[in-house]
Amino acid sequence: MRIVLLGAPGAGKGTQCKRIVAKYGLLHLSSGDILRQERAAGSELGKKAQRYMDSGALVPDEIIVKMMVSAIREAPKADFVLDGFPRTANQASEFDKSLASNGEKIDIVLNLKIDDRIVAERMTGRRSCPKCGAVYHIENLKPKVEGICDKEGSKLIQRPDDSPEVVANRLKTYHLQTEPVVDYYKNNNIVYDIDANKDADEVGALVFEKLDALVKA
Ligand code: AP5
Repeated sequence: MRIVLLGAPGAGKGTQCKRIVAKYGLLHLSSGDILRQERAAGSELGKKAQRYMDSGALVPDEIIVKMMVSAIREAPKADFVLDGFPRTANQASEFDKSLASNGEKIDIVLNLKIDDRIVAERMTGRRSCPKCGAVYHIENLKPKVEGICDKEGSKLIQRPDDSPEVVANRLKTYHLQTEPVVDYYKNNNIVYDIDANKDADEVGALVFEKLDALVKA
């Protein structure tokens, strides 16, 4: 299965991807996580991406498409779930061309739909583990011990781009540049809208319903 998860910042893409991976054993590729790892490593790519990420803008398409295509080609598994990519119609079309050159295609696109007003509270409450990437929320998904990762025991951190000003920019960017990706894939009849305003278990159940149907087909 080759899955794309679309949705605004805070729609729960990362949260649901982890559930999908646990159930179906796919590879989880998050463009945001890869960029953050590049930044932490101080690579040229990470340095180029920094100013875009810190302001809530998108990193240029040519950098991102190259980065994601190599991540997929180097991956040990052929099946994957993509989180945060593609994020412009141009990224989607360039990516499709690259998959087609290998006789591959995207099987399903799950579009996590969330109201803008809910995004802000999810983002300001998010905490994540710098070691394993586990994602928590101070109200909705608390770790067993406050501020500490359940798996690694490390101190949880808040992402610098989760400040209210940057979140507002990320939302603007999403509506302007990423919503058209839904229309791009709608032409292929592979898009399913999911109500992401519900709690994480309910959203997960809706996601599994669509993926189970695809597995059985
Ligand atoms: P990226 O890291 O991809 O950020 P994003 O898309 O803005 O998404 P988030 O990771 O913030 O949210 P999410 O939907 O994964 O939500 P989560 O599950 O964590 O991108 C960062 C930056 O990198 C971009 O701004 C851009 O600069 C650059 N970039 C990345 N990809 C790019 C691309 N393709 N092209 C160009 N630039 C790119 O959940 C959020 C919180 O809510 C958590 O605390 C969670 O516990 C909680 N939560 C989740 N689901 C629920 C629920 N159902 N109910 C209640 N709480 C919930």
